[in-house]
Amino acid sequence: MAEKPAIDVLQSDSQIFEPDATFREAANVRDPKIYERAAKDSEAYWAERAKLLTWSKPFSRVLDWNPPHAKWFADGQLNASVNCVDRFAVGPHRNRAAIIWEGEPGDARTLTYFDLYREVNAFAGALRNLGIKRGDRVAIYLPMIPELAISMLACARIGAIHSVVFAGFSAESLADRIADAGAKLLITADGGHRRGQIIPLKRIADEALDRVDCVENLVLVKRGDFPLDFKEGRDHWYHRLMQHAPRWTEPEPMNAEDILFTLYTSGSTGSPKGIVHSTGGYLVGAQTTTEGVFDLKADDVYWCTADIGWITGHSYIVYGPLACGATCVMYEGAPDWPDRGRFWQIIEKYGVTKFYTAPTAIRTFMRWGDRYPKQYDLSSLRLLGTVGEPINPAAWIWYRDVIGQGRCPVVDTWWQTETGSMMISPLPGLIGCKPGSATKPLPGITAAVVDTDGKDVKSGGGLLVIKKPWPSMLRGIWGNEERFIETYWTRFGKDTYFTGDGARLDDDGYIWILGRVDDVINVAGHRIGTAEVESALVSHELVAEAACIGIVDQVKGQAIAAFVTLIEGANADPDIAETLREHVAAKIGAIARPKTVLFTAQLPKTRSGKIMRRLLRDIAEGRTLGDTTTLADPDVIEKLKTRYEETD
Ligand code: WTA
Repeated sequence: MAEKPAIDVLQSDSQIFEPDATFREAANVRDPKIYERAAKDSEAYWAERAKLLTWSKPFSRVLDWNPPHAKWFADGQLNASVNCVDRFAVGPHRNRAAIIWEGEPGDARTLTYFDLYREVNAFAGALRNLGIKRGDRVAIYLPMIPELAISMLACARIGAIHSVVFAGFSAESLADRIADAGAKLLITADGGHRRGQIIPLKRIADEALDRVDCVENLVLVKRGDFPLDFKEGRDHWYHRLMQHAPRWTEPEPMNAEDILFTLYTSGSTGSPKGIVHSTGGYLVGAQTTTEGVFDLKADDVYWCTADIGWITGHSYIVYGPLACGATCVMYEGAPDWPDRGRFWQIIEKYGVTKFYTAPTAIRTFMRWGDRYPKQYDLSSLRLLGTVGEPINPAAWIWYRDVIGQGRCPVVDTWWQTETGSMMISPLPGLIGCKPGSATKPLPGITAAVVDTDGKDVKSGGGLLVIKKPWPSMLRGIWGNEERFIETYWTRFGKDTYFTGDGARLDDDGYIWILGRVDDVINVAGHRIGTAEVESALVSHELVAEAACIGIVDQVKGQAIAAFVTLIEGANADPDIAETLREHVAAKIGAIARPKTVLFTAQLPKTRSGKIMRRLLRDIAEGRTLGDTTTLADPDVIEKLKTRYEETD
């Protein structure tokens, strides 16, 4: 078993799937010189891409680089909602579907570009009527319903900064994010559907608002007929506001560098950080990669299964596809509701042509078996994509063979909340794919694998960095410049962006992402900081100390293992383990629930008191222990090892 991954890698290193001739000839990007051209003059390349957007004031400057601060197209002005909606709400495009929405219970709605235009204008006006102005922050805590995209675009229209919080997060996580951003308004719904259950979003939002004092108004979307407390004066029904809203709301002319949104993501230390994205550069990155990597065509029906609460949904459900005038499917619910064929049924129902999902989902489908996809007609599919975590070659091949029926290119796209858009990914008409490798940096992106001294690795393992600024790069961490510099621009200096990922470069120049090298665990493609889970654990009255690590999980990629020391006198029994797992889920959200909780009298520490997670990882993965000479008390580790083997 331990041998398997190595064999996988050896096989796939040489196995290459070249784009087929018909696909290549029709591809949006088919001139291989694009790489060379973009490398020679990346500013010219990005300027050319930026000119495809609609600017209310054209830019004359392309890049101002004052490491680590980049300004792109700084003297230009534009509005993201105009670029995503207005320019397609006229002429032949006006009646084309922008969003084809499918609710979990089977209800459905289609919004044309003109419909979307009407909704965005009206809601933007409603937000203005509630006193929201340029630069104000608006928190959004909604299920996957069209109003989520509408809310984001309405904020963008009036220059308000949106901060979307994934609807699976707890009241406490929501409150932390609202407070950090200093949001004035919260948009939520009465509830959301998930696997046949109703998630009481309004109740969670009320609880969150009890903890913060910056929010003045709450806008409530009616998703169902779910019970709730309505707080007169503070709460406003979305549909009521819309009845009195204007049909047209003047879009705010935004400077390219004005903030479009912040989105919180986990880091290796402390609380989640609000990643800041700009308006112009972000949109250029999202639009360019959507068009090129998904090879979007006028007749495409494109579906990204991510939740808009994550960056993937921001860039590849809302901003990228809409800035391309694409038709996007948006699905509210779970892949196994009412049964395990739901995704394939949706593909058949809408004739989906481009499909983008996560490796963890692919591995789950694989485990469920071929019989579910085989019940549906998937012949409309033309391209498949993955994102979020490394995909094992076996899952890649299954995806290509069973879902793509051997016919569709599979694009493995590497990027991050911080990068805003895809960085390493094949252009499907130009680059042959190796299962398990995100292949090569996209045009205009200078990704490299370096050793610990920052020197380029020609072949072999190292750390992944980006050497030159790119338009959709993060502009900072909300309210925390120091952390911004420290996290990304210290390891290799102020002009090299450190991704936090390890990677390997093979002899053909293909990049293989190996995963995080910091204390971030990637569970089912979601980033969770060990520090956050540990602090949730120690907030329980029975816990004295806790350390978390990521362990291998066949489906989720990684899972969380917690090592916990209880206070004196507390009994380490299975009930407490379960209580603690639930406690973490309640504090942060279900995605952070540890898979295992192991009690230990002590944790392995250095003499200066630092927990040695590396040793915990060695124990959990059954490896021979690495260097133990810095341990304060070597006995601890032996005891822990025995205990772990007993419970495993
Ligand atoms: C991981 C998601 C391997 C990586 C867009 C990165 C990947 C983190 C891939 C960012 C991929 C993302 N192959 N690993 N194709 N895509 N990752 O911010 O560790 O939620 O640093 O952004 O996910 O996660 P985030």
